[in-house]
Amino acid sequence: MDHFLYRDGHLHAEDVPLSRIAAEVGTPVYVYSAATLTRHFGLFRQALDWTDHLVCFAVKSNSNLAVLKLMGDLGAGMDVVSGGEYARARAAGVPGDRIVFSGVGKTVPEMRMAIEGGIRQFNVESEPEMRALSAVAAGMGATVPIAVRVNPDVDAKTHEKIATGKSDNKFGIPISRAVEVYAEAAALPGLQVMGIDVHIGSQLTDLDPFRAAYAKVADLTTALRAEGHRITRLDLGGGLGIPYRRDNNAPPLPIEYGEVIREAVGHLGCEIEIEPGRNIVGNAGVLLSEVIYVKNGQDRDFLIVDAAMNDLLRPAMYGAHHDIVPLVEPAVGAGVHAYDVVGPVCESGDTFQKGAELPEMAAGGLVAFRSAGAYGAVMASEYNSRPLVPEVLVRGDHFAVIRPRPTYEEMLGRDSVPEWL
Ligand code: LLP
Repeated sequence: MDHFLYRDGHLHAEDVPLSRIAAEVGTPVYVYSAATLTRHFGLFRQALDWTDHLVCFAVKSNSNLAVLKLMGDLGAGMDVVSGGEYARARAAGVPGDRIVFSGVGKTVPEMRMAIEGGIRQFNVESEPEMRALSAVAAGMGATVPIAVRVNPDVDAKTHEKIATGKSDNKFGIPISRAVEVYAEAAALPGLQVMGIDVHIGSQLTDLDPFRAAYAKVADLTTALRAEGHRITRLDLGGGLGIPYRRDNNAPPLPIEYGEVIREAVGHLGCEIEIEPGRNIVGNAGVLLSEVIYVKNGQDRDFLIVDAAMNDLLRPAMYGAHHDIVPLVEPAVGAGVHAYDVVGPVCESGDTFQKGAELPEMAAGGLVAFRSAGAYGAVMASEYNSRPLVPEVLVRGDHFAVIRPRPTYEEMLGRDSVPEWL
């Protein structure tokens, strides 16, 4: 459930009519609901309340400082994958001992930064990375907690670009070689082996792949303990999907996911970490956009809106579906019109939806792209020199701009022309 509902004929975020935000901030603009974020985070906590746990918000899904601060203040940890994300988590007030560092390509400066600033654990993804981290930590006179990310070779049954747990993906070390890798890790200076990490993909709508992966992690825990390793922590990744369409095919709920975790690894007595991103923030955000033109093509009608693929890349990149709804609630029984909803960018791929059923729209009409809180603003670019889309956070009956729209001067000011030109 989210807090974007029609009230008195107008789509609201909590108690704020979205048309007010569009009027005051302009469009396109991302709008997030603090109540929805809080609610979704609470559902994961509740799902794991049977054990010691830390819900580490996947910063890659939405890294706005205000969103991170909200999550951090609720007690969330953070899953970061770059020095920039680490800096954001710290700037949002999250202590290092609640930050886990994932990713296949951590650089030495990134390792140093996290060791200096404090880190809960590095999720190590390869032997070369493990050796580099050992050298960096030992060189700094530090001992850093690690989990090794294993690749369980499980099909997550999701879009191929966001599946990460098959043996042909670049992530983790093959689980079949885990025992030898842990033996090396235990012998390296500067590393303290704490646990096992796994993440098999994103937007999973079926619990079976989680079950399969976590069963393998449970077996590995037993095997590693038999080898003398102290495995006290399991990081089970993120990936639980969200409903992108308002139909009856909603993915499983966090509480059911928590049950899968309990059944698979609950008996091991480990502290559990999870790294949800999309499930917390996806349906806590919408992208507002205004219709620039309604264009009648030969066989189809185009709704040309002021948001484009550079603002919300998912449809162009993954063929992803985002429900598009008008800000003014259609009257009961009002007719619908099929539009191809497109942006102004000069590519045919800049199409959000073909044949979207909307009420009759006119220039100046406002729409919301739903489920846009995760992997929306963070994947935006300035392609076609369109300034980065601004972000707004709503709480109750008030809102704040949490990232302003850059002016053209600001956008241009980042370039410099050498004096010899
Ligand atoms: N942990 C790790 C190590 C990850 O790689 C990811 C996502 C997550 C946690 C969070 O997964 P979530 O709970 O959000 O599914 N840009 C794509 C999604 C990429 C996900 C990458 N990794 C999209 O727009 O669908």
